[in-house]
Amino acid sequence: MSILVTGGAGFIGSHTCVELLNAGYDVVIVDNLYNASEKAVDRVKEITGKDLKFYQVDIRDREGLNEVFDKEDVESVIHFAGLKAVGESVQKPLEYYENNIGGTITLCDVMRSHGVKNIIFSSSATVYGDPAFIPITEECPKGVCTNPYGWTKWMLEQILTDLHTADPEWNVVLLRYFNPIGAHKSGMIGEDPKGIPNNLMPYITQVAIGKLECLSVFGDDYDTHDGTGVRDYIHVVDLAIGHVRAVEKLKEKDGVSVYNLGTGNGQSVLDMVKAFGKACGKEIPYVIKPRRAGDIATCYCDASKAKKELHWEAERGLEEMCEDSWRWQSQNPNGYAE
Ligand code: NAD
Ligand code: UFG
Repeated sequence: MSILVTGGAGFIGSHTCVELLNAGYDVVIVDNLYNASEKAVDRVKEITGKDLKFYQVDIRDREGLNEVFDKEDVESVIHFAGLKAVGESVQKPLEYYENNIGGTITLCDVMRSHGVKNIIFSSSATVYGDPAFIPITEECPKGVCTNPYGWTKWMLEQILTDLHTADPEWNVVLLRYFNPIGAHKSGMIGEDPKGIPNNLMPYITQVAIGKLECLSVFGDDYDTHDGTGVRDYIHVVDLAIGHVRAVEKLKEKDGVSVYNLGTGNGQSVLDMVKAFGKACGKEIPYVIKPRRAGDIATCYCDASKAKKELHWEAERGLEEMCEDSWRWQSQNPNGYAE
């Protein structure tokens, strides 16, 4: 039986497909390629030396999804597909709610009609809002999100929980990611943002490669060790392996479970600038700018629940994250484009 991976051509999805194939699972990808390239799929096959099925289908396309589920023997779904640009979601709330929430509802409905009731969902630390306490455990109450993207994660967690309440045959694992960076060791797959990156690490790598001039550091007056924002950066390969463990967890039929996937360490923007400078052998120029709307000072997790119950913990340190991000960026200056 196969694991169906929605959004499997994307950044986290492609790395997860590598780890699933390495662990011996059969993989079926469903991706509309809105924010991805089919080359990522080819490279997943090249890295692993294994084949997989790829369908260019939109998760809002009920007929297209039905055909995939009719053809494939799907055991569980890992659901990455969605729009994820925080700033854009403020400008385009309807598009975000329609794609992320509408798409997930269609996906679950098609799953149900095919008797597939196991799902792992990509949630985010953003559901904690401005967290009530640090380090953030899963007991930390969900907070107030500052943008529609965050609300889609918040609401989808609730929708999937309600689905289990209505039909206890559903097994749901909600994975709340902290800040994924890095890339596969081969340098063949990585993060390939469209246009100017919104996130810190892809911005830094594009400064290092000379595509962008200078990093803007958003705020140096936070209550943190150097005044800049602190986050829990996690290597995307560690995150991917966390999904393989979650697939194994689904077999225990636990109903709804929720896990933070992070390292438990916090790094500031300036820590990242320094660490990346070391990895790429050049200084990253930066200027201090005002705070970015919606940002919080500090966000890092307590990852002990995942360690205890998923037998998973992040193993790759900051140096490795920076080196691997740099290898991907320098080997692929234009991402997957020629
Ligand atoms: P990504 O954009 O690289 O991957 C998402 C994939 O989904 C893309 O390949 C895109 O083409 C596909 N997609 C989007 N809408 C679709 C649709 N309607 N039908 C089919 N495919 C569709 O993003 P990513 O960084 O790999 O993130 C994966 C998931 O993890 C997303 O749900 C994201 O919100 C979540 N997440 C990401 C981060 C992060 O910092 N990268 C943090 C927390 C949560
Ligand atoms: N930052 C800068 N300059 C930049 C970009 C970012 O100084 O050009 C700073 C931010 O102010 C923040 C830190 O770098 O302090 C990290 O910012 P990112 O945009 O990389 O990440 P966020 O923590 O803001 O958000 C990310 C994802 C969200 C997700 C959240 C929690 O973008 O989707 O992590 O998982 F919800």
